[in-house]
Amino acid sequence: MSRRDTILSSLKAAAAFGVAATSPLGTLLAGPAAADEASPLAGLRYGAAVRDVPLAVEPEFRAAIARHCRQIVGEGGLKWYDIRPTREQFVFDAPDKHMAFATANGMTLRGHTLVWYGAMPDWTKAIASASDAERLLVGHIETVMGRYRGRIKSWDVINEAIPDDPTSRSDIRPSIWQQRLGEAHFALALRTAARVDPEAQLVINEYDIEFVGDRYRRRREALLRLIRDLKLRNVPLHGVGLQGHLRGDLAIDREGVAAFTAECRAMGLAVLVTELDVIDDKLPGPPEVRDILVAAKAYEFLDAVRAGSPIDSILTWGITDRHTWVPTYFKRTDGLPNRPLPFDAAYRVKPLARVIAHVLRDRR
Ligand code: XIL
Repeated sequence: MSRRDTILSSLKAAAAFGVAATSPLGTLLAGPAAADEASPLAGLRYGAAVRDVPLAVEPEFRAAIARHCRQIVGEGGLKWYDIRPTREQFVFDAPDKHMAFATANGMTLRGHTLVWYGAMPDWTKAIASASDAERLLVGHIETVMGRYRGRIKSWDVINEAIPDDPTSRSDIRPSIWQQRLGEAHFALALRTAARVDPEAQLVINEYDIEFVGDRYRRRREALLRLIRDLKLRNVPLHGVGLQGHLRGDLAIDREGVAAFTAECRAMGLAVLVTELDVIDDKLPGPPEVRDILVAAKAYEFLDAVRAGSPIDSILTWGITDRHTWVPTYFKRTDGLPNRPLPFDAAYRVKPLARVIAHVLRDRR
């Protein structure tokens, strides 16, 4: 079967799950093969998260990243528990490797992340006073951002500030920083970051803001409340990152997302998609159908995001279905492998890659 015939038959099968062959996605996928069919993302503002083992030992992984990406981010490496195993130590091995790989391949590296409740080493539980917390946080940002000043041009300074299920607009996720310094720690971190590297793009990054439902609406509201507050006080903040770990089985709140990104844009913020993948544990089994549904979900999301704001860049959380965090938390019960990413386990291009390319190509 030709590529087009395969797509057409998959689209027909996907119609049973609500993706019409006549939808913009159907038209896009069934359209004539492009000259860049094998690497539709090359040259666009696309990037992916890299994992250390395949980066070190799997030539196909290195080649795929080098071929398709303009930027990378470490899945780990700059997180507190990676870089600060003890209070005294800074371990830069992984981020230094990522930087070297990026530079050697003409890509840039994004920084992830400086302030997060997660991935904290145990010793940070012993931070007992406000002054100790302030000294550590400021010192951490100075040392880590300082090392890559002028080279890491975009940082997730703040990650996941909003509770999973916020009870009010002013609800903030518990963390040692929130406990010791209160909400002021966000401004402290951002001001420190701007002082250390005035050229860097400073981003607040968040998940689960895109679906239909009360919880997601409350999460958008709480995040907007925090962002508005920071901007009102002239705290340096340049972008909002939508992680985009999309649930294949949940509907995107198109209006809610577009209103959210429009408001971010009105405040002068860039909108980035930082960790895109489609969690497919609840989607039907056959891979060809699943790949269409995965692409359709991403299209729905990206089209809603760009209805409110141009998309600065899109990074996926991994590049190949062979190496993805998704099965750690969302394994399928039928035993079939997850397929959340733009390239399959053999590094063949999937419909999701074409969707991302399409959105980045006519970036508005
Ligand atoms: C995940 C990594 O993919 C895993 O390899 C690691 O064990 C845990 O963290 N949101 C984030 C990312 O901001 O840092 C998380 O990455 C995925 C969810």
